[in-house]
Amino acid sequence: MPQQDNEPISASFDVTQLESNSGKYTTIPDTKFSVRDLFGVDEDWEVPGFLNDQNPNIPKIDKTYQFDPTTTKAILAGFSHNRRVMIQGYHGTGKSTHIEQVAARLNWACVRINLDSHISRLDLLGKDMITLKEGKQITEYKQGLLPWALQNPVALVFDEYDAGRPDVMFVIQRVLEAEGRLTLLDQNTVIRPHPAFRLFSTTNTVGLGDSSGLYHGTQQLNQGQMDRWNIVTVLNYLSHKDEVGIMLAKNPDMKTKQGKEDISAMVQLASLTREGFKNGDISTVMSPRTVLSWIENTAIFKNREEAFKMSFLNKCDEMEHMIISEYYQRCFGVDL
Ligand SMILES: Nc1ncnc2c1ncn2[C@@H]1O[C@H](COP(=O)(O)OP(=O)(O)OP(=O)(O)O)[C@@H](O)[C@H]1O
Ligand SMILES: [Mg+2]
Repeated sequence: MPQQDNEPISASFDVTQLESNSGKYTTIPDTKFSVRDLFGVDEDWEVPGFLNDQNPNIPKIDKTYQFDPTTTKAILAGFSHNRRVMIQGYHGTGKSTHIEQVAARLNWACVRINLDSHISRLDLLGKDMITLKEGKQITEYKQGLLPWALQNPVALVFDEYDAGRPDVMFVIQRVLEAEGRLTLLDQNTVIRPHPAFRLFSTTNTVGLGDSSGLYHGTQQLNQGQMDRWNIVTVLNYLSHKDEVGIMLAKNPDMKTKQGKEDISAMVQLASLTREGFKNGDISTVMSPRTVLSWIENTAIFKNREEAFKMSFLNKCDEMEHMIISEYYQRCFGVDL
């Protein structure tokens, strides 16, 4: 079963529903893509990928996606040189989707898993389950996500890596090294990684805990664990121009003079909240994801101010509404 767009799979997910690649699809990359042609990155790199694009675990291409060169190169190094790549940055800056969209263009299967506190060791490793076979109850080992992924040509993405439980993190630590084998003690088996298995993670903090107060529920990461990530890259907010570009690409009917001015002001407001946050004036920041949903909500409610309240203002502390209204006034000349 293909993963739903942008929906990481959760703890209760049944891996047997995921398509295994044995037999049906090429499991070793069988072509090379030019990085310049595919991602518009100014490098002469060629990266391996797959010709066949039928594997249901390949993410869908988002044609409007704007690749950030530094992030894209880090991800590509991960795919072509089997590096473990971690992307860190504020929320909604496009970390998860960057990996997904690179995979989509290389026709590389990609599965994301949210490492929140609901994920347990057994979800990752597998567990004995009681099932019915020919009318009889039997206990059967049900493979977890990690052994499944390790044995398939798939890019596994751990989202919210810094929210994972410590016991779970130690399980992951074992497979972080490129040759990292996984021993399933109860099953008496050692699993070797498939040559096209890749591992990525996205995180809001760099594993040193959260000093901003924005990322409640994150954990400090063990330094031995951090040390095993070969590449750590940072994706924070893009420039005003790039962010406006993304919004326009996703909302082509806004590509009028008025529409462009509106979006530019919306992004400007988002930047003000980010500045205000840095200066300690407000405690909620507007992410690109929120800007996008504000634009979409404006189209639904045909009212920008109302949409703003629902998309952002209502998430903010009431004490800070005044400051945010002032930002709004500055960008749009309107009192909320
Ligand atoms: N460069 C981009 N081009 C096009 N769309 C983008 C880009 N960056 C982000 N987006 C859009 O912004 C939204 C948020 O992106 P994404 O979920 O990848 O963020 P994230 O950094 O993983 O956030 P979180 O830290 O909350 O998990 C998505 O809808 C995505 O399509
Ligand atoms: Mg994410």
